Amino acid sequence: MDLNQVKKKKLRSTIMTVSLDWENLGFSYMKLPYRYLAYYRNGAWEKGELTEDATLHISESSPSLHYGQQAFEGLKAYRTKDGSIQLFRPDQNAKRLQRTADRLLMPQVPTDMFVDACKAVVKANEEYVPPYGTGATLYLRPLLIGVGDIIGVKPADEYIFTIFAMPVGNYFKGGLVPTNFLIQDEYDRAAPHGTGAAKVGGNYAASMLPGKIAHDRNFSDVIYLDPATHTKIEEVGSANFFGITANNEFVTPLSPSILPSITKYSLLYLAEHRLGMTPIEGDVFINDLDRFVEAGACGTAAVISPIGGVQHGDDFHVFYSETEVGPITRKLYDELTGIQFGDVEAPEGWIVKVD
Ligand code: PLP
Ligand code: COI
Repeated sequence: MDLNQVKKKKLRSTIMTVSLDWENLGFSYMKLPYRYLAYYRNGAWEKGELTEDATLHISESSPSLHYGQQAFEGLKAYRTKDGSIQLFRPDQNAKRLQRTADRLLMPQVPTDMFVDACKAVVKANEEYVPPYGTGATLYLRPLLIGVGDIIGVKPADEYIFTIFAMPVGNYFKGGLVPTNFLIQDEYDRAAPHGTGAAKVGGNYAASMLPGKIAHDRNFSDVIYLDPATHTKIEEVGSANFFGITANNEFVTPLSPSILPSITKYSLLYLAEHRLGMTPIEGDVFINDLDRFVEAGACGTAAVISPIGGVQHGDDFHVFYSETEVGPITRKLYDELTGIQFGDVEAPEGWIVKVD
């Protein structure tokens, strides 16, 4: 099905206005009417289409199932004040998926194909894009998997690229309120020269046990240390880390095993060009956290989640406050979300309209 067929089908049936509890969505799967699906066969991508079938039919011996030859992305569609819909930097997600594909010997999804598919999925499910002012968004989950009858440890000959969508609210409880995070020396999410910088499921599988331990102890998530020396902060299980110093610096860790967050690079730019801060990508030593007056986790799902405190062994370090959002974190949040929801002028090329 292409977008025109979806539109005709919608016109034939009564157009449903969707009414959900937009303010309290959380981050859960919801099966929406349409998703995009494309096959890679005989060395080329075939024309993708929108489908109502939410189930993937793949060989039991697919390398994605056995050896983790798969990758995913995460981006959002935002409803603006005038009712239109826009995407935030989808080309950057396309490029990161291409880098991940290179790492796992999968075929790249071309940027235009990726962005057009995102737009088609949003348009087809547009009644599920949450209203402006609710804070909720439509989350898109692109997925690239190696499929086919291959059981040796080698790359697949065939691939599926699919994108589904779901309306979401806060990823961490409360949104822009501080929560606490746990540092565990016992676990790493990625190896020093492994796949930490690639958005592959294996990194997240590795994070589930430490994540459960953190949640069971009432922490929002884990903060991982660098896998080589365990002396530096790397990132959160589902977001990057940033700290603000008293010298007006916006600092984020630099490491080959961190997922290069599009939100983090956007904040580095906004901190410098909109807030007049000094952007720094560098080491964040665990024994030098006093240099930060505020800290946060940033990502597509997490947006900006202030970090109240971090527990590391018996030490509990509070950054700004366990209950209040720091002023710089709030300013960054307002600037970023203002751009994403169309209220603040965006740097060139950051916003892609869905029409
Ligand atoms: N780090 C990890 C491990 C993530 O899963 C995510 C989410 O995508 C991020 C960082 C943030 O990346 P982005 O801002 O591109 O969503
Ligand atoms: C995202 O922010 O898009 C992510 O992929 C994080 C995920 C673990 C929910």
